[in-house]
Amino acid sequence: MTPTQALSSPVRMGLVGVGWMGHLHTRALRRLRDHYPDLPEPQFVIAADSLAGQEAEARSRLGYEQFSTDWREVVSHPDVTAISVTAPNQMHAEVCIAAARAGKHIWGEKPLGRDAHETAAIAAAARKHDVRTIVGFNYRHVPLVQHARSLIEAGELGRLTRVRGTFLADYAADAAGAFSWRFERAKAGSGVLGDLMCHVVDLLEHLAGPVHSLVAQDSITHTHRPLPTAGAGTGASHFAAGGGDLVPVENEDHVNCLARFDNGATGSLEVGRALVGPHVSMGFEIHGTAGALAWNFERMNELRFYTRHPSGGDGFSTVFAAAAHGDFSRFQPGTGIPMGYDDLKVIEASRLVGSIVDGHPYGPTFDDAERATAVVAGMEASMRSGAWEHVL
Ligand SMILES: NC(=O)c1ccc[n+]([C@@H]2O[C@H](COP(=O)([O-])OP(=O)(O)OC[C@H]3O[C@@H](n4cnc5c(N)ncnc54)[C@H](O)[C@@H]3O)[C@@H](O)[C@H]2O)c1
Repeated sequence: MTPTQALSSPVRMGLVGVGWMGHLHTRALRRLRDHYPDLPEPQFVIAADSLAGQEAEARSRLGYEQFSTDWREVVSHPDVTAISVTAPNQMHAEVCIAAARAGKHIWGEKPLGRDAHETAAIAAAARKHDVRTIVGFNYRHVPLVQHARSLIEAGELGRLTRVRGTFLADYAADAAGAFSWRFERAKAGSGVLGDLMCHVVDLLEHLAGPVHSLVAQDSITHTHRPLPTAGAGTGASHFAAGGGDLVPVENEDHVNCLARFDNGATGSLEVGRALVGPHVSMGFEIHGTAGALAWNFERMNELRFYTRHPSGGDGFSTVFAAAAHGDFSRFQPGTGIPMGYDDLKVIEASRLVGSIVDGHPYGPTFDDAERATAVVAGMEASMRSGAWEHVL
């Protein structure tokens, strides 16, 4: 969309935070015309980043007409109708609440707030000002996750008995990896609870229903990390090497949690960022009285489905993503041709734009983020008390 074109689209984007997610949100919105041509094409009005050096990226690479180092210029911009908030966690509450007050629709990222209090305040502001919202729980949009949900709803697994979710990663496995905002409580809030566990909670509740009660424990694998080498930006801060003084890590690297679900199933939720071995092993195993399902993001286009065959010879079969599953047909023409992570953000962008055009939410919304954060808050209470906690 060239800068000179009239501001005709109902979706006129602002962006706060030109890092990994800032790039991905913008690319996803640009790809709507390829995969959702029935939706209006967004226009890109203004981007903000506290690093002035991000201006060239925002303008020439991402195509925003204007740039500022002050996010308030995005929220107050008269031409902006929707905002992507992709700055670090400590900025989410202030920016999202100001955006809602200004009547802007919001594409937020997880964790929405640094704790349950912030998340509740953000969700309340969005409801009060009646703006459309979507939050970055992108694993819901995986076509085979959508298929898994329909199998469970259709009773193909019978009564659910065991539910297990994991998000095991290695981005902090290297003790020499740099200290970034993710390890600082004032900036990130919690560690893997906010970064990874909220994804697992949202996905399991989307598939298996609400968590009723739980007990949790946490640990820190590398207690100190080197500060980043001078001049290194925060961009892609997951992976930067450190060269400075050692400073203490302020939040958890690993959490294990046992859980009971409202429907009587029992199970576990486990996340870790400092593991040697798995890279992005996000997934679930769900067992019922008549069948079972297993899925892992590292093999996103395959679902393991166990069902009893009338002719005997029970066993898991591998279902490959196909046109009948979720939004797959908008991305690939045939079964087994893989979709990727970035495609999930295009689906997410379509849910935001669709909700703005149709005037009602498609989700996951800020209310869903508030629910996931309530479960995570139960885990934090249990990590302090060492006891089982009931989820409110
Ligand atoms: N949904 C997902 O799967 C997913 C994946 C990665 C990150 N995230 C979330 O997205 C958010 C951003 O993460 P990221 O990996 O893109 O981080 P990043 O470090 O790559 O980028 C953050 C950007 O925000 C900028 N910034 C910092 N303070 C600012 C301020 N006051 N005003 C404007 N800009 C500011 C930084 O300069 C940087 O360019 C985080 O909340 C993170 O948890 C979600």
